[in-house]
Amino acid sequence: MGQVTGKVALVTGGGLGIGRATAMTLGREGATVMVTDINETTAAAVAAEIVAAGGKAQSMQQDTTDENRWQAVVAATEAAFGKLNVLVNNAGIAIAGPIETFSLEDWRKQQAINVEGVFLGVKHGFPAMRRAGGGSIINLSSIAGLKGNNSGLAAYSATKGAVRLFTKSAALEGALDKIRVNSVHPGLIETAIWDAILPPGEARRNASDLSQRAANAVPTGILGKPQDIANGILFLASDQSNYMTGSELVIDAGMTAR
Ligand SMILES: NC(=O)c1ccc[n+]([C@@H]2O[C@H](COP(=O)([O-])OP(=O)(O)OC[C@H]3O[C@@H](n4cnc5c(N)ncnc54)[C@H](O)[C@@H]3O)[C@@H](O)[C@H]2O)c1
Repeated sequence: MGQVTGKVALVTGGGLGIGRATAMTLGREGATVMVTDINETTAAAVAAEIVAAGGKAQSMQQDTTDENRWQAVVAATEAAFGKLNVLVNNAGIAIAGPIETFSLEDWRKQQAINVEGVFLGVKHGFPAMRRAGGGSIINLSSIAGLKGNNSGLAAYSATKGAVRLFTKSAALEGALDKIRVNSVHPGLIETAIWDAILPPGEARRNASDLSQRAANAVPTGILGKPQDIANGILFLASDQSNYMTGSELVIDAGMTAR
């Protein structure tokens, strides 16, 4: 029996990186997964991989900043699978740059996806989870939501700090309905998001750039894998974490310990 057998999970930004690893892991551990992404093709490929591995999954195209689409995705999930127990608000972007030259347009775009997308997920996830008798919402923050840095990520940090505290208030609103809400704070994880984060002038991302970064910034010297984060999300999705809500799960190989 898997750790989330019988549960229905929705993963946003599930086509790549941490979202993909999370969808695959939840599927392998027995959940029925609705994989969504702004990129319809990658979401469909991940759902197909889950099914090919013997699991249950479907996919939908979803831009998490679109409130009408949230209503459609939640309704379609309940129609297809009968309920919604787990929501992973994973979709996110990173736009780097110094504050003085950062455009208001980029600030708003990043806020829309990283903060408003999470707000809309919780807003439309709550009623479905109440109908299911409870549930678990996992919001992707970052270590950038815990501490400041001077590497051009001020605007990104602002979004991830917002996710951290929104999560705690949502946990309080959901508590009596048995809806748990927790945040996950990854450190340096090898995904495509770093294509955009690397500061201007630095060589375009490749595995050795990131490994070099990890060697300097991570106490263990080790670059994280999407699976390292998916393992923590699985725990928060499962009943093993039943007494956890409003918490922060930091998975960073010690980066915030110093
Ligand atoms: N990789 C890291 O080191 C790291 C560290 C801390 C936090 N995070 C957070 O983890 C989450 C996942 O990041 P990742 O590294 O896997 O990134 P990624 O770029 O590999 O994947 C992000 C996915 O989100 C999708 N997406 C982007 N905008 C969307 C939108 N508006 N609606 C729906 N889907 C959208 C993309 O198509 C992509 O499939 C993000 O919230 C990110 O901020 C990542």
